[in-house]
Amino acid sequence: MQADPTQVAAYERIELALGDITREHVDAIVNAANSALRGGGGVDGAIHRAGGPEIMAECRKIGYCAPGEAVITAAGKLPARFVIHAVGPVWQGGGADEELLLASCHERALELAREHGCRTVAFPAISTGAYGYPARLAAPVALAATNDALIRLPRIEKVRFVFVDEEMRGVFEQALALLEKSA
Ligand code: APR
Repeated sequence: MQADPTQVAAYERIELALGDITREHVDAIVNAANSALRGGGGVDGAIHRAGGPEIMAECRKIGYCAPGEAVITAAGKLPARFVIHAVGPVWQGGGADEELLLASCHERALELAREHGCRTVAFPAISTGAYGYPARLAAPVALAATNDALIRLPRIEKVRFVFVDEEMRGVFEQALALLEKSA
């Protein structure tokens, strides 16, 4: 018998994995987008390349997403059903509301996922690439925000954080262990 997801602690619904997020078979994958939703390098480039032009066509119609917010499109040729484009903060040293904005883009992405009936969601390590957010600082913020959102959104069964390198996974593993201890 399957466990009732509403009876499972929120952090137990968080998984850490290595791989390419574009290959994830989940209801929604989250993109680390920019406010103009115009594509770029990193995860954003990989998602548009693998998903095809349908995703960019929808992004153009939407036009803008503020930092700390998220918008949703179809997923084109990707195995996921939706792409949620979340805009993280550019790291400016820590005094420009980066923590707040990083937390809120995770929460907004999960709220949007739920509004669209998603049960499984995959995230990259938002802001830790081109946007320069130090991974050691980003990991606890991303995980705590996800944990808080999962408490409020019991129907989301699983959130997978997907990393391209082992080092980043290690950083998130340490942060997740601390979150579990404090829960
Ligand atoms: N799957 C999973 N993770 C990936 C992938 C992938 N295919 N490709 C890159 N990553 C990882 C990077 O290693 C990094 O840790 O995603 C993390 C986020 O890096 P970026 O994609 O650079 O995202 P971010 O730092 O949020 O910067 C966003 O970059 O590409 C542009 O348009 C985007 O302007 C926006 C900015």
